[in-house]
Amino acid sequence: MKTITQDRWNAAQTAEAANWQDAASRSSRVLYELTEHSEAAKVLDTYLGGKEDLDGLEVGIGPLGTGFLAVHAAGYFGRIIGLEPLPILDVNLADKALQEYVRAIQSRVEVVQAKGEAIPFGDETFDVTCCINVIDHAQHPDAILEEIRRVTKCGGIFVFGVNTLSLLGRIKWRVLRWMRPDKFLFVAHPHIYGWGQMSRQLRGQSLTMLWDNKPSLWQRMAGHGRMSFWILERASAAICVG
Ligand SMILES: C[S@@+](CC[C@H](N)C(=O)[O-])C[C@H]1O[C@@H](n2cnc3c(N)ncnc32)[C@H](O)[C@@H]1O
Repeated sequence: MKTITQDRWNAAQTAEAANWQDAASRSSRVLYELTEHSEAAKVLDTYLGGKEDLDGLEVGIGPLGTGFLAVHAAGYFGRIIGLEPLPILDVNLADKALQEYVRAIQSRVEVVQAKGEAIPFGDETFDVTCCINVIDHAQHPDAILEEIRRVTKCGGIFVFGVNTLSLLGRIKWRVLRWMRPDKFLFVAHPHIYGWGQMSRQLRGQSLTMLWDNKPSLWQRMAGHGRMSFWILERASAAICVG
């Protein structure tokens, strides 16, 4: 079970906050943040098609307060809660049309300032939960996954994404981190994952795998770091216990 100290997490969050503060004033960065992850969005459509008025939760929505669900899937939702430990930033962009668009997306989200390790909602509250590019930044990743499973309804969908590194990438990461532990990349990411390790962990959460973007064997051995996605279902009501 991976955990880090409060001080180590605080250091990661301080680095993360500075990085987002910079992003919030750059149109190109904001545009990138809005458009990334569209690969998973297309697939999610096939599972949500025809549904409406859903309750959604995005854990670690990011300091822009826009996240994934409100950008890519807002039409399916009656309510989207965005959980985020850092304060939400006011974007100030040279591109005013983009700034208005960001504010419109922010208005689709009710932000709750909290950590994913203690989600302040009852069991089985949400039809769709989402957590992308968060657990490798967190204090206690396993606890976040357990909490997300708890608040997801039976038969509900969980959209999960995390950066994964190949075997070679993980070796290189450890060597470079040992050489330059103060570099942003290493400070902001207290945990690293491989695709196989993450997949096994998700199966251990009694979640049914609906789709993933599994990397090839070559990518898992020596490829570049990438965002790996899984779309999962919390087991159907008949077998959804605990
Ligand atoms: C790289 S950003 C990703 C933000 C957003 N999910 C995205 O994909 O653009 C990582 C986010 O995880 C958040 N985070 C870190 N630890 C967390 C925790 N314990 N619970 C919830 N969010 C956390 C950070 O505050 C930050 O907003």
